[in-house]
Amino acid sequence: MTDQANPPWAQQIAGIRAGYEDRVAALADEHALRAFKAEYLGKPGHVSDLLKEMTKVPPAERRAFGSAANELKQLIEDDIAKRLAALDDLRAAADLARTVDVTLPARPVGEGHLHLMTQCRLEAAQIFAEIGFTVADGPQIETEWHNFEALAIPKDHPARDMQDTFWISEDFVLRTHTSPVQVRTMLTQKPPIRIIAPGLVYRRDDDLTHSPMFTQIEGLAVAEGLSFSDLKGVLLHFVKRFFMQDLAIRLRPSYFQFTEPSAEIDMQCRFCMGSGCRVCKGTGWLEIGGSGMVDPEVFRHVGIDSEKYTGFAFGMGLERMAMLRHDVKDIKFYYEGDVRFLEQF
Ligand code: DAH
Repeated sequence: MTDQANPPWAQQIAGIRAGYEDRVAALADEHALRAFKAEYLGKPGHVSDLLKEMTKVPPAERRAFGSAANELKQLIEDDIAKRLAALDDLRAAADLARTVDVTLPARPVGEGHLHLMTQCRLEAAQIFAEIGFTVADGPQIETEWHNFEALAIPKDHPARDMQDTFWISEDFVLRTHTSPVQVRTMLTQKPPIRIIAPGLVYRRDDDLTHSPMFTQIEGLAVAEGLSFSDLKGVLLHFVKRFFMQDLAIRLRPSYFQFTEPSAEIDMQCRFCMGSGCRVCKGTGWLEIGGSGMVDPEVFRHVGIDSEKYTGFAFGMGLERMAMLRHDVKDIKFYYEGDVRFLEQF
């Protein structure tokens, strides 16, 4: 006689379940849980082995046996899934709880900045923008016509000499100054014109204060009634702002083909304030560029009526001005890329 309420297969299922519940609590990681699940639900496995014994169960009890076995299978599946999910939650919580020690000193980060010459160029553009000048641009490989001819520099002038100019071909040069941007601007814009043109220029020149490549900043204004005093006012504004000092300037008579009259721009020596020192060679003045009133010959080349309009122009060496402002001793420092020099600015 079998015990109707508790047949052998029921005891067997209860035994498997008890064994499962006994051991599962000790399993602490995903790998162990999955292996344990396979031990029960895999083939072979305790539950599938149990099902094979269906034939030994009296037909009348098979239904009950089947559903009890399925119940056990479902119980194990659900329990393992619950435990795996709990492990996941634990891991996520541990990730969140991981703290950062904000008192640790930071690792130094190498930080770059704009090159001194770039800073000066942008600053100059800003200073001129304050008085209505916009920035114009032109190519560094320039035609002989824009670089010389249109600026009334004749074919036999020494500035065209092989010693000064890098010729690319018979018709093209590396521009020797930014003045050709004046020409390009006047060809494309109608007066009133107010531009500056900062940019690189090239000459066969190489010593403490000269480099074969350097930066000029050109200025041009064309309108009705412009005079020499407008030129002086603009230059004075620039010098005072660029050097952040109340410096005087003077316009010393000179000669350029493309201006008439022409003048050298001198600024009061910022080291001795004019009393004479080593930097200004005792003169009290420092030369920073050339300037003048646009020559009618240049207007003729670009088709501007010189009876109606007048203009002034200037060109300054930006490296030289930065040398004076920051006490840089050799123009080469700008181009060697030595971080010990560059990082000072
Ligand atoms: N282009 C001249 C140079 O490189 C500088 C210069 C002089 C520019 C007089 C000008 C000017 O615009 O009016 O030496």
